[in-house]
Amino acid sequence: MQRLSPGATIGILGNGQLGRMLCLAAARLGYRTHVYGPETDSPAEQVASQSTVAAYDDEKALAAFADAADVVTFEFENVPAAAAAFLAAHTQVRPTWKALEVCQDRVKEKQFFASIGAATPNWKPLNSLQDLESAVRSLEPPAVLKTARLGYDGKGQAKLHSAGDTKAAWDAITGGKPIQPNGAFAVLEAFVDFRCEISVIAARGQDGKVVCFEPSENDHANHMLATSTVPARVPAETVAEAIRIATKAAEALDLVGLLAVEMFVTPSGAILCNEMAPRPHNSGHWTQDACGTDQFEQMVRAVAGLPLVDPMRHADAVMHNLVGPDVNDLDRYLSDPHAHIHLYGKREARPGRKMGHVNVLRPKI
Ligand SMILES: Nc1ncnc2c1ncn2[C@@H]1O[C@H](COP(=O)(O)OP(=O)(O)O)[C@@H](O)[C@H]1O
Ligand SMILES: [Mg+2]
Repeated sequence: MQRLSPGATIGILGNGQLGRMLCLAAARLGYRTHVYGPETDSPAEQVASQSTVAAYDDEKALAAFADAADVVTFEFENVPAAAAAFLAAHTQVRPTWKALEVCQDRVKEKQFFASIGAATPNWKPLNSLQDLESAVRSLEPPAVLKTARLGYDGKGQAKLHSAGDTKAAWDAITGGKPIQPNGAFAVLEAFVDFRCEISVIAARGQDGKVVCFEPSENDHANHMLATSTVPARVPAETVAEAIRIATKAAEALDLVGLLAVEMFVTPSGAILCNEMAPRPHNSGHWTQDACGTDQFEQMVRAVAGLPLVDPMRHADAVMHNLVGPDVNDLDRYLSDPHAHIHLYGKREARPGRKMGHVNVLRPKI
């Protein structure tokens, strides 16, 4: 295990709110941070020790960034392959490309879940309207069509209520334009009438030790996470099984850092894996105030070669996302001593923009 000394620099690719909170956790442990991304006046830049504003394919800027960092990590998984390879040639990168590559593509992700014996909704890969028509015949709607790559917050998805929605769904995800497949372009998934959605954040250190946070129960509004509640209202066996799956996934990817695994719990209590992300996750923000060690610190510890610790949850929690104008309604949280407010420093509260979150706690007695 190579342990970073205080004063060492952690490079973070991406400069959004996840990067911001990663910088704050790194600073507590005595590390400098250097964030890199194309956006100016970013949430992470406001708190990082250093910032580079440049494109992900700017090799000169990437080389300077990598050379100045003791280790490089990511706050998002859609890092271009070329950038990841370039960085790895210059410095230590954690997690490695293997984990990013699997999480960038829904087809690889679902094949990966199958390879570790974790169930997913039934699905078919596809590359054309004809493929979609045959997938619809075998899966039978309701179903969800999703682009294989670059989807987030429900973007790149269309629901098919019946076979009659096939063409409209295809047009919705392609924008009516010809596609340029890189592997399979999309997947059709059976729609799951789930009892609830949960997610587990697993942290894995350089010594291979895995520490998981308990599953949160996640509710969405407008295809975006609205609340995460802990404890999730699922039986103890479901909690144990969800943690077992997340642990196995982090181990199979040989990942150093965090892995968030989103799952559906079916009415019969079975777990179906939906997707995963090798980074801090919105559904893990409750850990900031309800645990002794939160997801961001575990990630810094993993990347810096420090030991991981039990999260020591000391409170029940509900995390509320502040999306767009929600942030104008802060007063009710500001006067509540149980509410812990986290704002991302974004100036404009555009609709659908994640502006911050609030963790409302109920201490465990
Ligand atoms: N097969 C499915 N059945 C039922 N609901 C789904 C299905 N796939 C996605 N959803 C709903 O849409 C949300 C977003 O889909 P997801 O695949 O997680 O994409 P992303 O989070 O990248 O936008 C899920 O959290 C879930 O609420
Ligand atoms: Mg998701």
